[in-house]
Order: sequence, then structure tokens, then C-alpha cells
Amino acid sequence: MLARSVLQRASAAPARQFALRQSLRAASTWSNVPQGPPDAILGITEAFKKDSNAEKINLGVGAYRDDKGKPYVLPSVRTAEQKIVEQNLDHEYAGITGVPSFTAAAAELAYGKDSTPLKEGRIFITQSISGTGALRIGGAFLARFYPNAKSIYIPTPSWANHKAVFSDCGFEVKQYRYYNKDTIGLDFDGMVEDIKSMPKGSIVLLHACAHNPTGVDPTEEQWRSISEAVKAGGHYPFFDMAYQGFASGDTNQDAFALRQFIKDGHQPCLAQSFAKNMGLYGERVGAFSIVCESAEEKARVDSQVKILIRPLYSNPPVNGARIASNILTDPALNKQWLGEVKGMAERIIKMRALLKENLAKLGSKHNWDHITSQIGMFAYTGLNAEQTKKLAEEHSVYMTKDGRISVAGITSANVGRLAEAIYKVTG
Ligand SMILES: Cc1ncc(COP(=O)(O)O)c(C=O)c1O
Repeated sequence: MLARSVLQRASAAPARQFALRQSLRAASTWSNVPQGPPDAILGITEAFKKDSNAEKINLGVGAYRDDKGKPYVLPSVRTAEQKIVEQNLDHEYAGITGVPSFTAAAAELAYGKDSTPLKEGRIFITQSISGTGALRIGGAFLARFYPNAKSIYIPTPSWANHKAVFSDCGFEVKQYRYYNKDTIGLDFDGMVEDIKSMPKGSIVLLHACAHNPTGVDPTEEQWRSISEAVKAGGHYPFFDMAYQGFASGDTNQDAFALRQFIKDGHQPCLAQSFAKNMGLYGERVGAFSIVCESAEEKARVDSQVKILIRPLYSNPPVNGARIASNILTDPALNKQWLGEVKGMAERIIKMRALLKENLAKLGSKHNWDHITSQIGMFAYTGLNAEQTKKLAEEHSVYMTKDGRISVAGITSANVGRLAEAIYKVTG
């Protein structure tokens, strides 16, 4: 009898434990947290990993790869790292706005040695957690101090994180026309028309060069007209420059739009990233700057940005900034780096040309001129969701379903197969 009741209790135990677990689960602090949507790039990475085809091609990666498809550490970065090790530096905190030699050099790289506001000491700059962090500091500053409506206009389409960053800063994120699906190029008229019809004093986010995701940039003449339209509306330009040097291979040429706006009398703010042009992705090296009216205004801005940054992360990491600072301030290393950036840009330009050439050789009836007229790491191929699905399923070629490819994923060895795959799905 006794033995039976012990047995009954024992068999009831798992059921009780299950009920307890269920009730605990229902009462869990995070039981109301919904599952977020899957990340598009992660989806590609997962599918790519599972694919056993030895010739599979991943065009979803947002980082530069060399002609062997491998991550690339710039030799100038290696030299700078070596120099830093030899200096046997300490690991004390940086100030709130970061490593001064880095920020001074970053400002000079973006605005140019001869920049009037730079010479007049009225550009405020702070180090940031790469480009994303720079955008976020900018968003927080504008949310707190911008005197007009808290809305920001971003291009259609734009880097997906723009909307997320600025909405999280409390902005209403609106859009202006940018890309024309029919021409696979810039919708210049639409863009200018939209800028002209924005409420006076709107904030306009502009990709300084190598527009992500389209690879479509305005020409210099078009930039002048865009600057005029922004001026006429009394709008505030917010530049995002994540690819300086990476687009054309020339850091000055890629800064054209920013510098033209300043010549035209704008006082923009700027988010800079050194992830791509120095290959310092994981080091999170960036800067956020604001062109001010005067040195006195700059001092006030400086004091308030510090108040914003302090409770966010106190002060930025030093290692990546030291690397970038060495590269930007040591004349020999700087020259070497400029050559390496040019090398990366040229490889990308070459892969674009090879892809177009191979498609033409195969007899493709389509016009692929946009592959070479677009610039920077990304290309909008014009392929639709169905075609990109077919490319993945039948040819082991992976890209986002909007047809965006990272040209850095193309190599001399895979470009022929890639062209064949694209030809097979598009004709
Ligand atoms: C347009 C644009 N802005 C900003 C960034 C910022 O990147 P990170 O935070 O890695 O510097 C990127 C990166 O892909 C980008 O494409």
C-alpha cells in the first residue's frame, strides 16, 4: 500500500513540475516579448552556410573581400598596430570626445586641409562608435536641440539602419524619391521636387558617396542643384559618409558633395565611418561633427554633445582610433593607406566591368550599363525577388531579395559563373 502511494507520487511529480514550469513561464518578466522578424542578411548567411555547392557565391556580405574572397587587413593597419605595440601605451580612459589626434585628422580628411570652417576653428567633432554611433549621436543632438520639426527625410531606398536609428531617437522618418526602378539610376527630378516640397527647415539625410544600397550617386552638377534646393528650403543637411575613398579611390573626390555644400554656405553635420575605408569594421572607429557658425557656438555645442555622450557610454574605445590616427597623421603611412584604399576601390570597379563584360559575352539582351555606372561596394542589379530566389535555389548565388549585391563578393575566379547564373535567370 505504502509502496503504491510512493509510486503514484513519483509519477505525478513530472506533471506537477510541468505545470509549475508553465505557470512560471506565464509569469516570466519577459513573457510578453515578441519574437523579432528574421534579419535579411543573417538569412542569407544561414542559407549560404547550409549550401553544400563548392562553387556557391555570397553577395550579401557588407564587408570588403580580396580577390580570393577573404577578409582583407590593410598592410597600413598592420604597420600602425605594430607602431602602437612598440609605443607600449597605457590603457587609460580617453576623454568623452575621444582621441584628439584622431578627431583632428578625421575632420581634415572629410572637410579638407583648406576648409574655411576648419581653419576658423568652428567645426565641432567627437569620436563615435563607428558610423552607426555617429548617426546616433547626431540623432540625439538634433532631437534635443534642432529648433524645427523633429522629422528627418531619408532617401528611398536607404541603408536600413537609418530609419531604425532616427526613429529610436524620436524622429518621424520620412522619405524623398531617390532611385528610379525603370532607369536603375537616380530619380534626380523626383529628388529635387521632393526637397522643394518639404516643410521649410526640414532635416535631409544625404549619403555623401557610394549610396547604400543602390550604388547610385548624383553627378557633381546634380549635387550643386541639390545643394541649391536644400538651401532654398532652408533645410538642414545631415551627411552620412561611410565610404570616403572607397567609392572612387580618391578621398577628396568622394568628399565632393560635403565640401560643395559648405562652399554654398550650408553648415551641415556629418557622420564618418572608418569601417570600410580602413577595414576597421570591428574596431568601431568613427566621428560625428557639426559645422558651427563661430568658435563660440562650437564651444556650446561641444559642451552639450558631451552631456549626451556621457550617459550613453562615457567615452569611446581607444585602440581603433589610435590605428586610424597613426595612418592619417604619419605622412608615409598615409600615402600607403591612400594607395590601399585606391586598390580596394579599383578591384571593385574591375569586378563591375568584368561582370558586365561576361554578361555581354554570353549574349544577354539586357542593358547592364548600371553595373558600371553605379559606384561603391553595392550594386542594385535590377533583379527581382523571384529571380534572386531562383539564383539562390538553382545556382547557389546569394543576394538580398531586392537584387542588391555586394560587389566585394565577386572575384576573378567566380565572376564567370556569376554572369552565367544571372544570364540563365534573366536571359
Ligand atoms: C550608409 C551607411 N551608413 C553608415 C554605416 C555605418 O557602418 P558602421 O557603423 O559599421 O561604421 C554603413 C555601413 O554599412 C552604411 O552603409
